[in-house]
Order: sequence, then structure tokens, then C-alpha cells
Amino acid sequence: MRKPPSRDGGRFGGLLTAAGRRAGPGDRSLGEPDVPHNAPLVGSDSYSGLKRFDDVDATGEEAMFVGFLERIEQLPDVVARRRRSYELLALRPGDRVADVGCGLGTAARELAALGPRVIGFDASEAMVAEARRRSGGESVEFAIADVSALPLEDRALAGYRAERLYQHLADPTAALAEAWRVLAPGGRLVLVDQDWDAFLIDGDAKDVTRAILLGFADSIRNGWIGRSYHRLLTSAGFENVAVLPETVAITSPEQGERLAKLAADAAVEAEVVDATVAGHWLDDQRARLEAGTFFAAMTHFIAVGGRPSRPR
Ligand SMILES: C[S@@+](CC[C@H](N)C(=O)[O-])C[C@H]1O[C@@H](n2cnc3c(N)ncnc32)[C@H](O)[C@@H]1O
Repeated sequence: MRKPPSRDGGRFGGLLTAAGRRAGPGDRSLGEPDVPHNAPLVGSDSYSGLKRFDDVDATGEEAMFVGFLERIEQLPDVVARRRRSYELLALRPGDRVADVGCGLGTAARELAALGPRVIGFDASEAMVAEARRRSGGESVEFAIADVSALPLEDRALAGYRAERLYQHLADPTAALAEAWRVLAPGGRLVLVDQDWDAFLIDGDAKDVTRAILLGFADSIRNGWIGRSYHRLLTSAGFENVAVLPETVAITSPEQGERLAKLAADAAVEAEVVDATVAGHWLDDQRARLEAGTFFAAMTHFIAVGGRPSRPR
């Protein structure tokens, strides 16, 4: 029997098996996959890519990450949330703002078109090169930098924005301390992330569906970042902290297929379920996609806070 996932301390008491029961000690025949468990259940757009957003340049699959971001950033709810984040920054023309973990630089360019002076930071050389390649005449710069060591003077910014970055960070508290340092008193911070335990998919086998979704959630370094925002921002000293949840229903075949595959691959990789169980679960999801009955819901949280104008 393979070991239970390390992060939940064996929450499921053993691997879920094709028979839908749990493998126990000494039950050697259970949980054995009929495909190698390291092989993605799916093609190149598999989970093993998504979780490596913390070090894109080390993957050798930079183009896959670019393609992934390109698809996500065009989704209607993502576009609308991005615009909402600009309003929440409440910037004035000429203000200086950073988009951290900027990826393809789309938010940085859109923000620059609204008047502020924008700098996009990303730890990945490949992402910064791609962001620069996509940028034309806008007053926007891009630089390679880690979220916890931004090449900015103290109090340099009126606004700080980061979307889908904090869920990948080893130390979100250090990142927030850096945000505090570079924000001027009165400056505003806006963060956007999912909470991955708030991601649900309808499925026949409740325990398998739960296992897969929790395996997926736990494989993201900070899968609970959405619910942690209030505590993290408040503890870091930000004022007027607000955390705004946004849930979107997902029924489209393309997005549904991708999400179901990502979750199943992650759960197999985390050894929460074996590949046979995950494969059966995916078959059920595909049948739902074909019948038009697939349903998932994802919750993003937007966190807003300000560096107080007066010293603490
Ligand atoms: C999921 S992508 C999101 C990109 C973009 N913000 C968006 O919403 O489309 C996460 C980005 O953060 C970058 N990143 C990951 N860890 C980082 C770190 N420690 N410091 C700065 N950027 C980082 C990745 O290279 C990647 O471009």
C-alpha cells in the first residue's frame, strides 16, 4: 500500500480503492493502479504543471504555463474580477503601483491604460520575457523579482496588487511584510486568490469526490489562502481589511474537463486515490460533461487593505 498523503496525516485512513472502500494495513492488493501512478491521467496540461507555478523556470515547460495563464485570464469571471481589483486599488493618474507575480503582464498593461505608472514583478524570467514581449507603448515596466524582496525603496507605492500568487508562496507573511514596506502610508493592497477547499464538483461517489478535491486542495501550497487573508492582513497591520468572496458556477465542457483532470491528476500525484479510482471518477465526470449535467463551483476571494496613514 502506498503511504497516505503527508499533509493530512492520513485523513482518509487509507487509499480509496476501485471498490470504493479503504485499503487497510496488510491489504496489499488494494489500491494498486492499473497504470503507473506517476503517469498523468491526462495530457501535458496536467496538474503537475499547475503546482509548479512557484518555480516556472525550473520546469522546462514554460510554454505550457504561458498557455495555461492565457486561457484562464480570458474567462469572463476572471476578466471581471481583474477590473474589480483595479477599482479597489482606487488609484489616481500618476500613482505608482506594482502587480506582483504578474505572469503575462495583462493586469499591469490594463492598469497602465488607466493612468497609473505600473511595474510588474515576477520571479520567473520566462514570464517577465513574455510580459515584455506582449507590451507595446503602455507606460509599464517589468522586472524579475521575488515577492519577498522587491527592488523598490521603502514607501515607493500607492498600490500593490497580486492575483493568484499568494496560494503558491512558502511564506505569505514575509510577502505581506514586504508589501507593507514598499507601500506608502495610505497606500492600498489588493490580493486575489481561490480558496481550494471551497472548490466543489458534483459527483456520484461522495467519498471519492471528496478525496480527490481535498487531495487537489492540499497539493496547492497555500490552498486555504482565501480564508487566511483576513487573519494575515490584519496581523500584518493593514487597516480597513475586507475580504470579498466571489463564487462562480462552472458547467462548460472545456473548463469542466480541464478542472476535473487537474483535480484527478493532483489527487493521484498526492496518492490520495489510486489511478484506477481516479480514472473511474473521471469517466463519470466525462459522462456528465457529455450529458450537459457537469457542475462545479469555484470561490475566489479578493482581499483589500490599507497601510495606515498615521504611524502605528
Ligand atoms: C498563477 S500565476 C498568476 C499570474 C498572474 N498574476 C495572473 O493572475 O494571471 C503565478 C505567477 O506568480 C509567479 N511567482 C511565483 N512565485 C513567485 C514569487 N515568489 N515571487 C514573484 N513571483 C512569483 C509565477 O512565476 C507566475 O507568473
